[in-house]
Amino acid sequence: MSNNPILVASEITRHYPVSRGFMKPAALVKALNGVSFSLHAKKTLAVVGESGCGKSTLARQLTLIEDLTSGQLQIAGIDTVGASVAALKALRPKVQMVFQNPYASLNPRKQIGTMLAEPLLLNTSLSAAEREEKVRAMMTRVGLRPEHYHRYPHMFSGGQRQRIAVARAMMLNPSVVVADEPTSALDVSIQAQILNLFMDLQDELGIAYVFISHNLSVVEHVADDVMVMYFGRAVEHGSKEVLFDRPLHPYTRALMSATPAIRAEDRGAKVKLLGELPSPLNPPTGCAFNTRCPFASDHCRKEVPQLRPAEGRLVACHRVEKITL
Ligand SMILES: Nc1ncnc2c1ncn2[C@@H]1O[C@H](COP(=O)(O)OP(=O)(O)OP(=O)(O)O)[C@@H](O)[C@H]1O
Ligand SMILES: [Mg+2]
Repeated sequence: MSNNPILVASEITRHYPVSRGFMKPAALVKALNGVSFSLHAKKTLAVVGESGCGKSTLARQLTLIEDLTSGQLQIAGIDTVGASVAALKALRPKVQMVFQNPYASLNPRKQIGTMLAEPLLLNTSLSAAEREEKVRAMMTRVGLRPEHYHRYPHMFSGGQRQRIAVARAMMLNPSVVVADEPTSALDVSIQAQILNLFMDLQDELGIAYVFISHNLSVVEHVADDVMVMYFGRAVEHGSKEVLFDRPLHPYTRALMSATPAIRAEDRGAKVKLLGELPSPLNPPTGCAFNTRCPFASDHCRKEVPQLRPAEGRLVACHRVEKITL
């Protein structure tokens, strides 16, 4: 197996023009700003951060649902920016997505068997019998039963529906699956089952995951690497062990302080977030986190901190050496 990453994101950026009303100039929401990472087969990058920090925007760029505003995205060694229509069409099946809400993401009028066979119908030349065989095999693999083949989505529980969504994402042997809060809508008792399903499939099929979650206990369970996002940027990025053992960015610390279940005795002093998330239409100057950071200085209000190496991970904070406790 090659040692090249399956996914390489370089400074990927996505801005959305938004109307502010009649006769007013359009504003720009800078949802994603210069995010970079690489991902290898069988590895999981967890992306964490509060609502609105750009996680789903990132997911839409990685799965080629939208076009980047700028930056480069390489999938399986192919540059997607500037790629031909044919090349993109061939690449799309390689990156699949699982959404948060299995109720909304499944077509209520289609039987499960038909729905799961659809990607095969569209992307392969398999016969109807071969498609059915593959669908049944995948259903078994994700823990559904043969009699489920002719049932409709409303006949399933939330957990089973998410199994169906996972099966659908896996039908074309993707190299990368981007899962956007895939367990957040499920009962806690079901969440662990679905997480285990994700991990078993990764072991068996060698898939790489980008796993989006605001739940740090979930992240601790599934991640190899963790990227913490704030206001469209990565503020801390490194291996799960390093980040959970000793978070450095005040924002990462604040997130961890707010999750008692994962707070070991020595994760540095607790950090409390001040105030509210700023408006995306009126972003703070300098470090976007300065308005809520207990350690912010003038420097932080003027200059955007870049990610740089510190204690075995990358961190974007002017004050990181000063506030190490
Ligand atoms: N199509 C769009 N047009 C305009 N603004 C958008 C669009 N999509 C997202 N945004 C804005 O971009 C920012 C990031 O949104 P995004 O949905 O990526 O956040 P998120 O981290 O997924 O949040 P959540 O945890 O609530 O799902 C938000 O300010 C959002 O309002
Ligand atoms: Mg989202």
